[in-house]
Amino acid sequence: MPLLEATNGQFTYDGQPLRIISGAIHYFRTVPEYWHDRLQKLKACGFNTVETYVAWNLHEPRPGAYNFEGIADIEQFIRTAGELGLHVIVRPSPYICAEWEFGGLPAWLLADSDMRLRCFHKPFLDRVDAYYDVLLPKFKPLLSTNGGPIIAMQIENEYGSYGNDTKYLDYLRQGMISRGIDVLLFTSDGPTDSMLQGGTVPGVLATVNFGSRVGEAFAKLREYEANGPVMCMEFWNGWFDHWGEHHHTRDAGDVARVLEEMLQENGSVNFYMFHGGTNFGFYSGANCPAPNQFQPTITSYDYDVLLTEAGEPTDKFYAVRDVLARYGFAPGAELPKPIAKRAYGKIRTDRQTGLFDSLDVLSEPIASVYPQPMEKLGQNYGFIYYETRISGPREKHQLNLQDVADRALVFVDDRFAGTIERWDPETKVSFDVPKEGVKLGILVENMGRINYGSYMKDRKGITEGVRFGYQFLFDWTIRTLPLDDLSGLTFEAGSASGQQGPVFHKATLQADHPADTFLYLDGWTKGVVWVNGFNIGRYWNKGPQKSLYVPGPLLRAGDNEIVLLELHGTETAEIEFKDVPDLGPTA
Ligand code: GLA
Repeated sequence: MPLLEATNGQFTYDGQPLRIISGAIHYFRTVPEYWHDRLQKLKACGFNTVETYVAWNLHEPRPGAYNFEGIADIEQFIRTAGELGLHVIVRPSPYICAEWEFGGLPAWLLADSDMRLRCFHKPFLDRVDAYYDVLLPKFKPLLSTNGGPIIAMQIENEYGSYGNDTKYLDYLRQGMISRGIDVLLFTSDGPTDSMLQGGTVPGVLATVNFGSRVGEAFAKLREYEANGPVMCMEFWNGWFDHWGEHHHTRDAGDVARVLEEMLQENGSVNFYMFHGGTNFGFYSGANCPAPNQFQPTITSYDYDVLLTEAGEPTDKFYAVRDVLARYGFAPGAELPKPIAKRAYGKIRTDRQTGLFDSLDVLSEPIASVYPQPMEKLGQNYGFIYYETRISGPREKHQLNLQDVADRALVFVDDRFAGTIERWDPETKVSFDVPKEGVKLGILVENMGRINYGSYMKDRKGITEGVRFGYQFLFDWTIRTLPLDDLSGLTFEAGSASGQQGPVFHKATLQADHPADTFLYLDGWTKGVVWVNGFNIGRYWNKGPQKSLYVPGPLLRAGDNEIVLLELHGTETAEIEFKDVPDLGPTA
């Protein structure tokens, strides 16, 4: 018998009525050293439950190779929550959306040209089964039915926003049950007829996701869930940002008001998010409402919620805490001491090495008749470089990338010739070719696979071919550049400013007292930053975010190695560490 039950319009836990007051914290977006801090803050705000997704792509980076260490140690996250007396809700994938690369699906699924996602397709289900065989047994001792903190688990994620394959949903449900998951199962969907019809499973609790209009949403839910309690599984109390947009915020008073409406309706709630965190590495996802409208998500997942990206309580924290206290959910813990922040000031990058000079230490050349996307070459994330020769003489033609995902820098005889971006059909590169011919180099950046909607099969790099004018170009050398190990780079002393093209820059940060800090890259254009070998994410002068969060646990007392890959060039050799973030202008 599950301890948490949903009957007669309410949740009961071990026979006693329970109102679930939950907040989302994704273990994979916060360094493990801070899990306890964030979870304690959840408790200190009056919450009784934490919810997390599970990111399949983090746990199975290559087919059959699993990772549950460090930031991927989900069992430790759940145990920590349990030790603090919190219940845990797990939303275990395969698909999670979450503005996370490919919605948490492993990129290598796309190596199979016939792959079908999120439906009853055997090759997809075989992969899910192999993963569930490893993942779900880890949860068994942590289930409330075995004395652990997990009270409920979700099937798929907002499936009705995507499809209507009930056989697939039932297969996932059976897959959880047959592997010993005996806690309450539920689905979550948008509050519309089509979404609830596509996403719900008979006999499984339905919940809804929304940011406002509580009465309408719960009324629609009740049409599909007549007996169960009403629960908002994602209360969007903030929002995320794409590159080139403003920074989204939502008023704390408005959030408190909507929460109160939910409580008055006797609803349970999961705040999406309580603490957003960071899209470290290359794990940010993208939206794509129409084929040419690719919208990559930024590095910060601050989400303007109860805790900031760096874990500090916001006005929303206090406004929500007040409402919860009035409804009988008193803080269950003390607020932990604030985490130290430091302004280390300006430092100079003083060593460089060109990306193209480093190809041999970063990759192996792959000969290929035609360009191929990275998934076909066993690569998940990062960059991919294509090189060929064009004979001359030829008059000026346009270079056509068919198709490029997501953003290509074009080099003709090693000279930068232009940028082609998938979301901007106006970006064109044309050139003529002298008698002796030219070397053509195309460096493509994967800016994050689409995590939601109709265009999720989003292969990265060049998918079909490259044309010069009408003519397809054959005979390529390809380099996969996942950039997951930079230890082989050899840097030379020099000055960053004025250099063009993709260059790695190195600086040393002396930190006598390691603490949280925020890296500002004013004057730099676009690239990626590693702190002591840990990829803290992308920067881009197009904003909105102006600073990157550097969690203190990534630093050590003494010298710290900061490496930047700058794709275009910089006006300055300096970078700056401040003690406050800047996520950019709001609307
Ligand atoms: C949906 C998804 C979440 C997330 C939010 C937006 O509700 O289920 O994973 O993507 O949208 O942040």
